[in-house]
Amino acid sequence: MKKYLIAGNWKMNLLQAETANLISQIKEGIQNKKIDDVDILICPPFTNLSIANKAIENSPIILGAQNMHFMPKGAFTGEISPEMLLDSGCRYVILGHSERRQYFKEDNELLIKKLQAAFDNNLIPILCIGETLEERQNNKTFEVLYNQITIIHNFSREQLTKLVIAYEPVWAIGTGLTASTEQIKEVHQWIADHIYAHFALQIPILYGGSMNDKNAKEILSTENVNGGLIGGASLKSEQFLKIIDAAIEIVGN
Ligand code: 13P
Repeated sequence: MKKYLIAGNWKMNLLQAETANLISQIKEGIQNKKIDDVDILICPPFTNLSIANKAIENSPIILGAQNMHFMPKGAFTGEISPEMLLDSGCRYVILGHSERRQYFKEDNELLIKKLQAAFDNNLIPILCIGETLEERQNNKTFEVLYNQITIIHNFSREQLTKLVIAYEPVWAIGTGLTASTEQIKEVHQWIADHIYAHFALQIPILYGGSMNDKNAKEILSTENVNGGLIGGASLKSEQFLKIIDAAIEIVGN
């Protein structure tokens, strides 16, 4: 039996009332479902964390954030600290999403500090890695993934037991293009092998990139896929619930 993490990355979407609404629909949708082996995580924007934290009360839904600063406090205008996330009820934090790497120039040096801060504060980091279309076409996929994953070598095995990795091919994000199951299988196997070879450890590896209610079952059934990091389809309760259903169905078999 396999345990899944179904995570919604809401990105820069939804206002407070919409947040409360979506959460109440998800809560209602999972009410009578057997979700013991499926963790459900939502990562709303910072401004909605408090209302989301209230809305998930009395439900198994877990809260996470999409980013954070690595310092505990101080003169960092516009930033949010790990402690603030904990205070808002977060247990997870997405780090190194390709949109952060691309638009906000996040690099390995910064991500090492953010990972350290997450581990120090008992926040579970979801480290995103993935290649662009150009990199894939130039046969650079594994070189790029290696350069991104290599930062985990700054941490101990003990710390890495709390790490989640998300493979998100940049060309599949928000494009409606999904990686094929062969491509997903190949990369997830490579990630799993890398981590096992260096740390004798198995950690959850999520797939992200145009995952939806139609393709979820096939993707989640793929070897070494332990869940999904879902953007667009996590903003619609029917779709998100169907993805959760796909995971429930697989663990039930
Ligand atoms: P989409 O599901 O909208 O392609 O986004 C994926 C993603 O970036 C999740 O972090």
